[in-house]
Amino acid sequence: MSPSSYSHLVYVERPKGLINSNTFRVEEVPFDLKPAADEVVIKIVWLSIDPAMRIWLSDDAGPFRPLQIGETMGGIGVGTVVGAGEDSGFAVGNHVSGYVGTTEYSKMKAKELTKVDVPEGAQLLDFLGPLGHPGQTAFIGIIDLAKVKAGETVVVSGAAGAIGSLVCQLAKDKGAKVYGIAGSAEKCRYLEEELGIAKALNYKAATFQEDFVREVGAFDVYFDNVGGGMLDFLLTRMNLHARVILCGAMSTYASEPVPLKNHRDIFYKRATMQGFSLIDQGDRMPDAMKYLGDRVAQGVLKSTYHILEGIKETPMAINMLFAGENNGKLVIKVSRD
Ligand SMILES: NC(=O)c1ccc[n+]([C@@H]2O[C@H](COP(=O)([O-])OP(=O)(O)OC[C@H]3O[C@@H](n4cnc5c(N)ncnc54)[C@H](OP(=O)(O)O)[C@@H]3O)[C@@H](O)[C@H]2O)c1
Repeated sequence: MSPSSYSHLVYVERPKGLINSNTFRVEEVPFDLKPAADEVVIKIVWLSIDPAMRIWLSDDAGPFRPLQIGETMGGIGVGTVVGAGEDSGFAVGNHVSGYVGTTEYSKMKAKELTKVDVPEGAQLLDFLGPLGHPGQTAFIGIIDLAKVKAGETVVVSGAAGAIGSLVCQLAKDKGAKVYGIAGSAEKCRYLEEELGIAKALNYKAATFQEDFVREVGAFDVYFDNVGGGMLDFLLTRMNLHARVILCGAMSTYASEPVPLKNHRDIFYKRATMQGFSLIDQGDRMPDAMKYLGDRVAQGVLKSTYHILEGIKETPMAINMLFAGENNGKLVIKVSRD
């Protein structure tokens, strides 16, 4: 049965730095969502909290369209179809994933959604984890672009996060020696003891650079989630023909970027540095999903979820990513189903 009303998050004021109490308002609206022939109405079950959500709020949103004041906040989620147009190809009860928005219900064109069949041994939530955009991003970066090989030394920053933790596991599965960089002793323990990587280093330790030189020395592949000063330092620690994969720049989304001083090392080491965005990778998704699905089934990919409840938590949750307060993939439980 449909509710009489539902909530969504409306963009009110562009933040400088982190999100604050003026950035959004939660709005309750009457439920009047009726699907046209090519549309579906979905009830959102899980909403992903992503660093990109902060990028969308900026005037310069990089590869994305900046969110406009008055619009419903974006968001990637998974949900259940509660109304389906006759030409939509969906049926009530189907599970779907897509760019659904930060809302409890959404009416969308059927072609904007992907039907989700949860394989044995997995759960719907995994379509925001190893079987969703974090897994796909990890696959494109470390398998397709870095072409990581057995015996190579791989360094991953943001290593305990949603994408970083999957990159660590995919690289280890390929036989690489994996080093993680994370922001707390507890995250380092998780990476070493639960994911079994060679060594994790806390970048907040005063001795981080010495620790890195002693423990890692130099790397063949760096999977960069954070950019900034960390990237600059790691450019001085490359082996010949190293590959630096630029997945994200977490340290710069809510503050000014810092200049890179060590770029000549890219020339000295004949290294390559490549940025990528999942938005260009549609053709690779069937292979990515097969690869990831196989590894989830084999138990190679473990996931940790950090769960909050209710879309009103979204603004605070986005800030948590910037404080490193998420332990694993941060999600919001939107509906109780
Ligand atoms: N290229 C693509 O297509 C694509 C797609 C999706 C996401 N991304 C990018 O991938 C990266 C990781 O995303 P995610 O969803 O997996 O997030 P996440 O790693 O789960 O969460 C972000 C983590 O970043 C770390 N962090 C925050 N501020 C930092 C700083 N100033 N310096 C260093 N680390 C900092 C925190 O961990 P610590 O406690 O360790 O500091 C935090 O937990 C982001 O840069 C995101 O934009 C790229």
